[in-house]
Amino acid sequence: MRVRLESVSHDYAPSDESGAVHVLDDVSLDIASGDFAVLVGASGSGKSTLLQLIGAVDRPTRGAVFLGDVETSALDEARLTELRRTSIGFVFQFFNLIPTLNVFENVAFPLSLARRPKREIAERVREVLARVGLEPRARHFPNELSGGEMQRVAIGRAIVHRPPLLLADEPTGNLDSKNGLVILELLRELHASLRPTIVMATHSERAASYGDYIIEVADGRARR
Ligand SMILES: Nc1ncnc2c1ncn2[C@@H]1O[C@H](COP(=O)(O)OP(=O)(O)OP(=O)(O)O)[C@@H](O)[C@H]1O
Ligand SMILES: [Mg+2]
Repeated sequence: MRVRLESVSHDYAPSDESGAVHVLDDVSLDIASGDFAVLVGASGSGKSTLLQLIGAVDRPTRGAVFLGDVETSALDEARLTELRRTSIGFVFQFFNLIPTLNVFENVAFPLSLARRPKREIAERVREVLARVGLEPRARHFPNELSGGEMQRVAIGRAIVHRPPLLLADEPTGNLDSKNGLVILELLRELHASLRPTIVMATHSERAASYGDYIIEVADGRARR
């Protein structure tokens, strides 16, 4: 899925305690379908903000965001929810698994939300657990897993609905280097076999080397 930003600016609104925060200023980007793009930049530069705008979690203050031919920044909430459910997978630094659901149920979650038939869910989840190497842990709960395993579950959940766009916000940021490497190799393997567009934010040079190219976020701008 192609990702395009046209003159996007983003401010966080002022609150009682603080003034407005100007994060992005007139950012235009074109990420081709199937690219693995990496966002780098100092803490607070706006990488997570950019991912949230691309992932249609938030709307830009000004400018337009396109996923494929669709201007997501112009869609209503119901259409956005539908788009996120069908077209986008999100992986976070702190995994964000649901603690009361086991591994199988966490991975199945997007399909359960979409009310897919039970048999289809079982098949897809089994296939995804095999991909991420966690078939034997299907009945375990998140608190029984290592950080690396939790992130593999989170990646499984992010790809189970076969989204054309996979967004990852510092997916190795909370892992030791060995587990980080396992996650990066897994992302590389998924990219090669399923060909989603991947946009990943990272602070790690090694992680950045896994992408096709780097987009540097600084001073409100994003430059390839
Ligand atoms: N909800 C919010 N309200 C106000 N300001 C915010 C909000 N979210 C983020 N910010 C501010 O916007 C700026 C960009 O934040 P963002 O999280 O996008 O940076 P980042 O590049 O992801 O940083 P990090 O590398 O630390 O994750 C920061 O100055 C941050 O404090
Ligand atoms: Mg961030």
